Amino acid sequence: TGDSTILTETRGRVRLITLNRPKALNAINAQLTRELIAAASAADADPGIGCIVITGSAKAFAAGADIKEMQSATYAEMYAGDRFADWERFTALRIPIVAAVAGFALGGGCELAMMCDLILAADTAQFGQPEIKLGVMPGIGGSQRLTRFVGKAKAMEMCLTGRMMDAAEAERAGLVSRVVPADGLVEEAMRVAETIAGMSKPIAMMTKEAVNRAYETTLTEGVRFERRVFHAMFATQDQKEGMAAFVEKRAAKFTHG
Ligand code: HXC
Repeated sequence: TGDSTILTETRGRVRLITLNRPKALNAINAQLTRELIAAASAADADPGIGCIVITGSAKAFAAGADIKEMQSATYAEMYAGDRFADWERFTALRIPIVAAVAGFALGGGCELAMMCDLILAADTAQFGQPEIKLGVMPGIGGSQRLTRFVGKAKAMEMCLTGRMMDAAEAERAGLVSRVVPADGLVEEAMRVAETIAGMSKPIAMMTKEAVNRAYETTLTEGVRFERRVFHAMFATQDQKEGMAAFVEKRAAKFTHG
């Protein structure tokens, strides 16, 4: 069908992207992958947008990669098409991305949430990597990112047994930043996103890059990277404005330059 698998809406400087394949619990097929990455890339490139929120439905953030779409694929097709490699374009985006997760975030859905910069969970959220029950394992970073977020013991148990984690356990384990009541999830995510989008966009992008370095390199290299980027911030107008506003006891008016 020509119907879009996502809905997009702009509120101020925030772009809200809602996954919209309700009949398949937002299972991530090729079309959804293409449309979501295109929408996120467009927001990244738009100077009028400072943060993205990605959400699903009350029942499911996303119930995984689309099992029906991949079930009969051959090794040659998976390899030649380098299935799931497109997500590297998503993780390369520099704009901050908030995942607002209610209901199931399973398999590729959990992996998508973990590819965002922070996860806000509804009290109904359930996280899991149940791929092993299908005779496969996580394929969009789950075995790596989940292990870094929650540690080896929990990641191993979840990936080997398919056990789901509820929102409270996910918060205790460090997978999500906060748990909020389900009926206020998207509004709270929008508030967080509006706060981020009110900051200088280039400074927020550099900050995201610096925090992500903590996952990619040694402490010494990461601290050195942070210091160099910190120095570079003094070439921006927004650093001058932010510090002047503090000294003058007024709100900063960032121009994103
Ligand atoms: C395709 C899916 C789907 C998926 C659900 N659906 N998950 N279709 N891919 N990942 C479809 C169902 O087939 C069904 O379609 C409809 O959505 C509603 O789902 P139900 O199962 O009827 O709902 P419910 O009984 O409420 O159970 C919810 C659920 C269950 C517990 C989330 O749907 C489930 O276990 N889904 C699969 C979860 C999973 O294994 N995810 C990992 C996928 S693999 P019909 O047409 O019957 O109504 C993955 C791999 C990542 O992500 C990369 C490595 C390979």
